[in-house]
Amino acid sequence: MDSMQLAVVVGAGGMGAAVARTLAADYRILLVDIDEQRAAAVADELREGGGCVDTAQCDITSPDNVAALVERIGRQGGVRVLAHVAGLSPTMGDFDTIIRVNLTGAALMSDALLPHAVPGAAAILISSLGAHVCGFDDGVLSVLRDRASSEDLPDELRGLVGAERADSNMAYQLSKFGLLMLARRRAKDWGTRGGRIVSLSPGLIATPMGAKEFANNPAKRRLFDLSPQKREGTMDEIADVVAFLASDKASFLSGTDILVDGGLSGALSDVPFDAMRKAAR
Ligand SMILES: NC(=O)c1ccc[n+]([C@@H]2O[C@H](COP(=O)([O-])OP(=O)(O)OC[C@H]3O[C@@H](n4cnc5c(N)ncnc54)[C@H](O)[C@@H]3O)[C@@H](O)[C@H]2O)c1
Repeated sequence: MDSMQLAVVVGAGGMGAAVARTLAADYRILLVDIDEQRAAAVADELREGGGCVDTAQCDITSPDNVAALVERIGRQGGVRVLAHVAGLSPTMGDFDTIIRVNLTGAALMSDALLPHAVPGAAAILISSLGAHVCGFDDGVLSVLRDRASSEDLPDELRGLVGAERADSNMAYQLSKFGLLMLARRRAKDWGTRGGRIVSLSPGLIATPMGAKEFANNPAKRRLFDLSPQKREGTMDEIADVVAFLASDKASFLSGTDILVDGGLSGALSDVPFDAMRKAAR
């Protein structure tokens, strides 16, 4: 068991737990979440199934928390996989919080872990279908590209999109698009260490978070009706793609996004852009 390489899974919610469960077959897992009890409960379940799992409490938006976590990881040897799953849906926070958790948190975590990446390492950042149905001007793109870990990121983005448009839906799309840019931008750095970084964009996935979005967002139901397979994806379908992306079978995949949406974005090509961007998150 000790010879297993380390996979850091950030986020112990629905999808994070599924990812950790799948990766636990091949890696020892460090499961990270702001909610210590949630991570501990998932870890207990995985240990019962034979997994080698440790947990860490960390607020990914806090540079100090991330630095302390990474110092601990550094003492344990290198990292083979970062599966960064933690994130907030639009109903779970305001503009600033969603930007900070979804984008700044992922940037802080992936940048801090990079010096500990072993050759062959892979970082997988969970984005969203929402990142594929939005468009931003050059000013926004340049801030998303260059300032993802800045404390001022929410204010800078609000200034650029305008206060009246800066709601939690806009924050979600900005943050998830920012993850696509982060994977592209950091591919060179990860490559220098013999590693890779990609983003993965799930479509509608049956998670407790997804269920909340269905309850609070009628546009989501309309989106479901348009889905080619007339179903949500499962958390295991996402976890299996994460496991593939983490493995050497994906050794030439870096700096790009993998869209895992059952064909929904393709089916949306007939839908007017504004309706689509309101619905697809
Ligand atoms: N469910 C879907 O349909 C769907 C679709 C597309 C993308 N996604 C994305 O998938 C990811 C996971 O979704 P989920 O359903 O597992 O969500 P979830 O809410 O079940 O889990 C998210 C986890 O992130 C943790 N977290 C929140 N803020 C944190 C912080 N500051 N520091 C550390 N941890 C923090 C929470 O405690 C929680 O355990 C999210 O990024 C979401 O945007 C979900």
